[in-house]
Parts: sequence; structure tokens; C-alpha cells
Amino acid sequence: MAELKTKLRKVVIIGTGFVGSSYAYSLLNQGVANELVLVDLNKDKAEGEARDLNHGMPFGAPMKIKAGDYSDCHNADLVVITAGANQKPGETRLDLVSKNAKIFKGIVQSIMDVGFDGIFLVATNPVDILSDITLEVSGLPQERVIGSGTILDTARFRYLLSEHFEVDSRNVHAYIIGEHGDSELPVWSHVQIGGIPLSRYAGIDDLYSHPVMTELFVNVRDAAYHIIERKGATYYGIGLALVRLTKAILNNENSIVTISTHLNGEYGLDDVYLGVPAILNENGVREIIELDLNEKEQKQLEKSASVLKEMTEVAKQ
Ligand code: 2OP
Repeated sequence: MAELKTKLRKVVIIGTGFVGSSYAYSLLNQGVANELVLVDLNKDKAEGEARDLNHGMPFGAPMKIKAGDYSDCHNADLVVITAGANQKPGETRLDLVSKNAKIFKGIVQSIMDVGFDGIFLVATNPVDILSDITLEVSGLPQERVIGSGTILDTARFRYLLSEHFEVDSRNVHAYIIGEHGDSELPVWSHVQIGGIPLSRYAGIDDLYSHPVMTELFVNVRDAAYHIIERKGATYYGIGLALVRLTKAILNNENSIVTISTHLNGEYGLDDVYLGVPAILNENGVREIIELDLNEKEQKQLEKSASVLKEMTEVAKQ
């Protein structure tokens, strides 16, 4: 505990749009870091956000907040990238790839040029592909380059299951894995409520062919489309999910979270970033959790990986 009190915990956010500023607001509420720097191409926007957040300081958790630039990354523990174009109604996350890949190469290079040696957390979409580009451009060890992956999809899944079965979402264990996007999959074989497999708890033999469960998953997968149609963007859910990851890292929690990480043979897959459960601590990814997937899930995961690999190749050109 003494170590937590004295250690400087510095976070830099690149991009102060809806996602970056929602994340900053949640950080201020939850008191995770003690220094926060906001960086945006639009310096006035970053400055405005910093001032607005600072005026809430007497009501939040004390922390230094300021607007800055890439040079502030040199001694940061964590750099969170939320910059880039976001989806318009009807656009998929993969549609953003060429626009955001270009923006990313420049951002990551500028951060490395000032001697950054911490952990990158990528939130911009398509998050799996942009995490891969961040790894390549930064040259950092792969455990220190992660993406928010399917953490939000997993949260949506747990929330919808908890609503359906009227059980606190903290007692629902369930994972969405694969692409943070249209090819993701629910790991039905490992859903548990209070330690009991869902099929037994709910008396459903085949969760895959059950219409209500299928509809529930489709609502998870398409959640962002439904929100974007109504309010133009999603940001509170991802803002809170990024705080969860920040805590796991800065507090050295060894938490199991579904993040986008680089696979080297796990799940029989190589050289691809996608969302899987992993143990996260102050050094980044400590360990990837390899679930025993059934045949159907394994096939779907392989399909998701091949979608991502193909797009990553295009993005890297
Ligand atoms: C989300 O899932 C759009 O990726 C963003 O909310």
C-alpha cells in the first residue's frame, strides 16, 4: 500500500474527443492516477477539457490534470490512444481502417521519439488492427502494447445476461472473444452464473441454438450500431472500461480482462491481435488465459482471426 501512495502514476490521453474525455472524467471520479495529461491536435479542445475537469477537483479524487503535448509521454506509465475517426451510422469498425492506420503511425512514432517506455493502451477502432500497428511502429515488447479489445462487449454480454436472469452482473462470468467487431463470438461453453454452468442454471441444452440466447448475443454484437444510430457515438461504457484496465495496470492487480493482445500460438493462432482473456498487471499482459473452446467456438475464433489478419495486412501497407 505504501508503494501505491508514493509512486507517481502518470497517464497521458491522446485524443480528447468523446471517448478520451469520458475516460478522463471517469479517472477523476475513481482516483486511479495522480497525474493526467490531455493531448489533442486541437490544443484548445485539450485545454478546455483540462480546465473543465480541474474545476471538478474539489469533488473528485485529487490529481494533477493539464493539457500537454507528445513530450509529456516521455515519463508516462500509460499512454491511452483514443484519437482518430469514429464510426458514422452504418459504418463498421473495419471501415475506419485506412483513415486511422495512417493517423496512428504518426502518433505512435511521435510518442516513441520522446523516449516513451511505458504501456500503450489503444482504444481507437478498429482496435485490434491499430494495436498491431502500435506494436510494429513502437518496437515495444508485445506485453506492453494492448488494446481495449472485447472488454466492452464482455461487459455488455454480462449486463444483458444479468438483466435476463435477474442476477447481479458481478456474479455472471462470461466472455466475448475475437475481433472487437462483427466477427466476435460468445464463449457460451464457459458462461457461468455463480459458478454454475449457464446451460444447467437455465436448463438449456444447446445455448447456441436457443433463440433467446441468440438474440441476446446479437444485441451485444450490434450494441454500438444501436447506440450510434440514436446518439451518434458510444463513450461512457468504453470510458469506464478503460478505467478498469488502467486500475489493473497501475495498481498491479493481476486482473483477468478480455483485452486485445498479440497471440503467439495460443488458441492455435499466430501473429494476430484479438480479444481474449488475459492477466493484466503493471508490466502489461502477464499471461493469456487459454479457454478450452468447443469445436464451434474454435472455428469461429479462427474465422475472426483470419478477418483481422487480412485487414491488418492491408492496413500495414
Ligand atoms: C463500441 O463498441 C464503437 O467500438 C465502440 O462502443
